[in-house]
Amino acid sequence: MDTKIVIVGGGGHVGLPLGLVLADSEFEVTAVDIEPSAVNLINSGKMPFFEDGAEELLRQVLGKTFKATTDYQIIQEADVVIVVIGTPVDEHLNPDPNAVVSVIEKCVPYLNSGQIIILRSTVFPGVTKKVEEIMKTHGLTPDLSFCPERILEGQALKELRLLPQIVGADSEKSANRASVIFERLGVETKIVSPEEAELAKLFTNVWRYIKFAAANQFWLMSNEAGLDFTRIRDAIAFDYPRASDLPNAGFTAGPCLFKDTMQLAAFSNNNFALGHAAMLVNEGLPLYVISKLQERFDLRELNVGILGMAFKGESDDIRSSLAYKLKKNLQFKAKNVFLHDPFVTVDKSLISLDEIISKSDILIVGAPHNIYKELTTTKPIIDVWNLLGKGNLI
Ligand SMILES: NC(=O)c1ccc[n+]([C@@H]2O[C@H](COP(=O)([O-])OP(=O)(O)OC[C@H]3O[C@@H](n4cnc5c(N)ncnc54)[C@H](O)[C@@H]3O)[C@@H](O)[C@H]2O)c1
Repeated sequence: MDTKIVIVGGGGHVGLPLGLVLADSEFEVTAVDIEPSAVNLINSGKMPFFEDGAEELLRQVLGKTFKATTDYQIIQEADVVIVVIGTPVDEHLNPDPNAVVSVIEKCVPYLNSGQIIILRSTVFPGVTKKVEEIMKTHGLTPDLSFCPERILEGQALKELRLLPQIVGADSEKSANRASVIFERLGVETKIVSPEEAELAKLFTNVWRYIKFAAANQFWLMSNEAGLDFTRIRDAIAFDYPRASDLPNAGFTAGPCLFKDTMQLAAFSNNNFALGHAAMLVNEGLPLYVISKLQERFDLRELNVGILGMAFKGESDDIRSSLAYKLKKNLQFKAKNVFLHDPFVTVDKSLISLDEIISKSDILIVGAPHNIYKELTTTKPIIDVWNLLGKGNLI
């Protein structure tokens, strides 16, 4: 019998693709999740969200090396317990350092010292140490490792088999046991301490968030000067490798980058001016767009259509999407706000593409879905992303 892996939070955006890829690599995987609707859907061979290639893989491994359950008891049969529940910030933008800790406490009755626990949620630094201490208070000494997830949502199946895995562990045994699992996916591992791995994950996301903020700030400055940032960026990056990673502008959103920047700020006792400045720029973008519209139009008389409600292109995930911030603020100011998204399934107010084009006086690209590249309409389109390739001066 091969290694048995239980993934707590295994019905989520990170846990489920990971479970499928591990099940496809001859591990015996059970996804444990508190959400019965997700578990039922998964056990019927359907993905609860879009992930490229995942539904096909789910159908291949389901009932063979993969299953889902809400029952924690299965944890006692596991050799490896991976914990990857969500770790959002609260309404005060504070992380909850106890999110993972309290789930671990729920697992305690089913854990034993022969197991390895792998923490995979993005955590507040120090959580791995805290988990080790909790184990000890219960007389448990399992191996323990923090192995952060770095995939791009939508590309998980591919990237889990490509990206090197950071393995945070204090003992050689824990490091080896965790490494063996990921090496079976064909990736290299980089071993550091748990504390280093925790910060490595936060720095990875915050670095991206700050890069996007820099691009958004440059766009805003260019726009205020009446210049098209796309042209300026293209000039900078043209045959100049040192600037090739300068992104274009866009609504920087989603469930990770913003909240991990806030986690890092909280970790630094709120002494993180660069992170907070990035947050102001990125979160302020929809409001700036509205203010520019207000300069040109009488918004109270305007029907506005938002094209794309997911937090990024080709995704159905609306978590922390700035298109919804745009919608909320426009609903207060404009005559009507209409929404379209070809992927999102959880918003009943969405209308068809033909309808939104005919009903709106002006359109705003909220998420850069490829389908909008082909749009033919004479109505003005606000396109911060330069999705349509006509520049992003507004
Ligand atoms: N989404 C990403 O692209 C991404 C990438 C890298 C890292 N991360 C990190 O991975 C973690 C998970 O993110 P996600 O996007 O998968 O979140 P998610 O909300 O999609 O998934 C979390 C899952 O955990 C389940 N859950 C919550 N409490 C539970 C409990 N007590 N027992 C069992 N299951 C429970 C939920 O029902 C949900 O299915 C977060 O820390 C996130 O920051 C996310």
